[in-house]
Amino acid sequence: MDNTTAKKVMLSGIQPSGDLHLGNYLGAVKNWADLADEFDCYYFMADLHTLTVRQNPAELRRRSTQQLAQYIACGLDPEKNTLFIQSHVHEHAELGWILNCYTMFGELSRMTQFKDKSAKNAENVNGGLFTYPSLMAADILLYQADFVPVGEDQKQHCELTRDIATRFNNIYGETFKVPEPYIPKVGARIMSLGAPNNKMSKSDPQGCVFLLDKPEDIARKFKRAVTDSDTEHCVRYAPQEKPGVANLMSIYSSVTGKSFDEIEREFDGKGYGVFKPAVGEAVIEHLRPIREEAERIIADKAYLSSVYTEGARKAQYIARKTLRKVYKKVGLVEKPF
Ligand code: TRP
Repeated sequence: MDNTTAKKVMLSGIQPSGDLHLGNYLGAVKNWADLADEFDCYYFMADLHTLTVRQNPAELRRRSTQQLAQYIACGLDPEKNTLFIQSHVHEHAELGWILNCYTMFGELSRMTQFKDKSAKNAENVNGGLFTYPSLMAADILLYQADFVPVGEDQKQHCELTRDIATRFNNIYGETFKVPEPYIPKVGARIMSLGAPNNKMSKSDPQGCVFLLDKPEDIARKFKRAVTDSDTEHCVRYAPQEKPGVANLMSIYSSVTGKSFDEIEREFDGKGYGVFKPAVGEAVIEHLRPIREEAERIIADKAYLSSVYTEGARKAQYIARKTLRKVYKKVGLVEKPF
């Protein structure tokens, strides 16, 4: 047994529903690489969850692998983390079914994400959208995860996972580890370049810098970044009065390591016309190795496939043990092969 088995287990699912952008990277993913020293980390592309909203099949397939490549390029080392695709480990769907039978209609009805998503997709409020949290509970409980890093939007699902695990354990005896939410070290909160009061989001492509954007596109987006209509026209950190400038300063600070004081001094007496392209250049240089690495991995299909094959094997080894235990406890006849 290697010493990783002594580490606590951390697990997170990522929906392959869009390309990674600077906000995802500086706000979260950048910090994930370091977690592998302390935890036994599992990350998977939650492709089954993505099906709850109608997808273009070719796009979904492309994103599931290309997004994985982008995470690897951001520093998630496949040697140190278990990286896989959810649908490759069929135990997720199987435990998902079982847990559906231990999740109450009332509980699922109270999920705010279900309410939001069904309001947004009124024409496709399907059963999967409703039982999404039971599948998510299966994702987590299969690996006996100690920690699940959660943002605000997934807190309620994690709470429900704990309730489902506790309910099952109370009926059948200790079966699942009851996971704890892990509040990740948050990086900078990156806002849209076009509307600095909103978070950077893929749904606003002009205000959003994707990790795979070409340098000239990044340069253009920063040149057009909204600054502020104040008259002083100077680079000063004042998030309330000057949210656009503050956002650019946070980005510049995250990619160069410079403090806000240093940045104010660097651009003292220079206007936004100098500052904005300088931030663009710094971002281009920071992302260049990540983009090149992502492109290299995307082109190397054999490598990518070896990563998710190996990942699925490692994951399934653990998942199968939990599922077997569960099947036995609930009374299913042992599988003869
Ligand atoms: N629901 C999560 C999201 O939309 C994705 C997800 C699926 C997940 N399974 C998970 C996250 C298990 C953490 C653990 O972001």
